[in-house]
Amino acid sequence: MATEQKQRLLTGDTPTGKLHLGHWVGSLENRIAMQDIYDCYFIIANVHAFTTRADRPQEIRQSVLDIMLDYLSAGIDPTKSTVFLQSEIPAIAELTFLFSMLLPYPRVMRNPTIKDEIRDKDLGDSYPFGFLLYAVGQTADILAFRPEVVPVGEDQIPHLEMAREVARRFNHLYCGISSHTPDHEQLTAGGLLPIIQPVIGRVRRLVGTGGPGANGQLLKMSKSLNNAILLSDDADTVRKKIMSMYTDPNRLHPTDKGTVENNPLWIYHDTFNPDKAWIEEAKDRYRNGKIGDVECKKRLIEVINALLEPMRERRKQFENHQDYLINVLEEGTAKANEVAEVTLGLVKKAMQQDFFNKKRHVTFG
Ligand code: TRP
Repeated sequence: MATEQKQRLLTGDTPTGKLHLGHWVGSLENRIAMQDIYDCYFIIANVHAFTTRADRPQEIRQSVLDIMLDYLSAGIDPTKSTVFLQSEIPAIAELTFLFSMLLPYPRVMRNPTIKDEIRDKDLGDSYPFGFLLYAVGQTADILAFRPEVVPVGEDQIPHLEMAREVARRFNHLYCGISSHTPDHEQLTAGGLLPIIQPVIGRVRRLVGTGGPGANGQLLKMSKSLNNAILLSDDADTVRKKIMSMYTDPNRLHPTDKGTVENNPLWIYHDTFNPDKAWIEEAKDRYRNGKIGDVECKKRLIEVINALLEPMRERRKQFENHQDYLINVLEEGTAKANEVAEVTLGLVKKAMQQDFFNKKRHVTFG
């Protein structure tokens, strides 16, 4: 079958809210484009959602369904790609435990994304043990599928680096690969786990609509900061959000000279508006006080709505069909389990813990 010749791709999202434009340019648009080229696996990491919201199971449940709907609306096609639920892949939980032995504790604590999250989410020193474990868990999410590529946002790079380290260490300890073997030769040299390649979206970090935070820097788009344009926003909501968005705070009148740099209005035009000639001319007029914010915002509204319109059309087909969404997820999960179980079997074999010569069967229903 054709899919078996394709290289594998794995990525996913933690269900902590609906997807927004930052997700789109950070990773989602890449995934849509890669669906025909790669054998794609998309994980909805519901277990990870419990690291910071163990007290809100209902919210996580809803968010799983919201993300599923966002995926299909954005153009993830279940006839091409496999979307699956983390909590129903037992091999991931087992691999997490096994891989945790390959990462020294201080190494996990040195992960900059973990540090940033502790700071940004105000976790203090009372975060659960599972919060640290999720970074190790993510190496298992990835390596269970032995993918070649992992498209993610920039903040995920430290986790991917850990997955690369785990794979190198595993191949060295259990497959007899010399620790000097170059990354791209590890599999041909007899290693089991690939040294995966991150693929970063064309925009590393999209700013939000709301202006700078306490440190004066523009904040990243994030649903919890209330500065996000959601993929599920209707045309009127997009219009309102853009009309009231933060631009150049010193520009009170269209004839005032405006600043283009670090101005979300122009960051969004640069990111989403394909009409580069218009942007250059309009920026020039903006700098010289010859075009109003309102005109530039109206143009942006058109651009964003044009991007979201096909997603809205697809959304209509699925939004009142929760059974269908769950079905797609269930089928994807069954397929994902087949792959992950094979990896787990090979991992145990390499670790010489394959005592019983039988294939474990994970079933549903
Ligand atoms: N941590 C990722 C996020 O919050 C989601 C995720 C979980 C993931 N497992 C993954 C991404 C494996 C890529 C690969 O966005």
